[in-house]
Amino acid sequence: MIDIFLAGVNTSATTILWAMTELIRNTSVMKKVQDEVRTVLGENREKITEQDLNQLNYFKLVIKETFRLHPTAPLLLPRETMSPIKIQGYDIPKETQIMINVYAIARDPKLWENPDDFKPERFVDSSVDYRGLNFELLPFGSGRRICPGMTMGIAMVELGLLNLLYFFDWALPEGTTVKDVDMEEEGAVIIGKKVPLELVPIRRY
Ligand code: HEM
Repeated sequence: MIDIFLAGVNTSATTILWAMTELIRNTSVMKKVQDEVRTVLGENREKITEQDLNQLNYFKLVIKETFRLHPTAPLLLPRETMSPIKIQGYDIPKETQIMINVYAIARDPKLWENPDDFKPERFVDSSVDYRGLNFELLPFGSGRRICPGMTMGIAMVELGLLNLLYFFDWALPEGTTVKDVDMEEEGAVIIGKKVPLELVPIRRY
């Protein structure tokens, strides 16, 4: 139970928080995703189910882009080499601890155009996914240590964000603008948002 709490709740909540932060800063993306969600789901729905997710293509790209820019475990979990290996000309001895900087890889300008921009459209014609097989995007890690709660984490992020987008309009508190939204990060293995996001929720249904 403690594993699920430590590894599962914080990571999913932090991802939702970053998605909300990016949406409030990027008004055209917010409008596009809200339009999709509200058109596909229709009006006055009492509840949202996993079946609804199947038709929400742009919404899923928003989540993918959030995982790219804000991996909650940016250095994954440590690995150790079992035998001497050579990587890009460097000799790595046996029993060396290896940290993999997936944060830097996901913002590498050699791999991504304008990597610091929040642009879900970059994935429209791309086969890159975040489930551990495309090494340029590894928010859940990869290989034998890949996150065992990945399916549950994705479901929590998707359903959590979808409920917030469908049932509420969000606004920044009066007197503040997107420039006031703090993007600083903090943490140790799991990195989150340093300053909480302040929003005014306006209930729709
Ligand atoms: C958005 C949600 C989540 C993200 C981004 C995430 C990300 C990660 C990452 C990057 C790792 C390290 C993988 C590696 O080093 O290759 C990891 C490990 C782990 N995750 Fe998740 N996770 C999420 C949700 C969950 C959930 C919901 C659970 C449990 C129900 C969970 C349980 C674990 C556990 C137990 C490990 C350690 C595995 C090991 O020791 O090898 N995670 N997670």
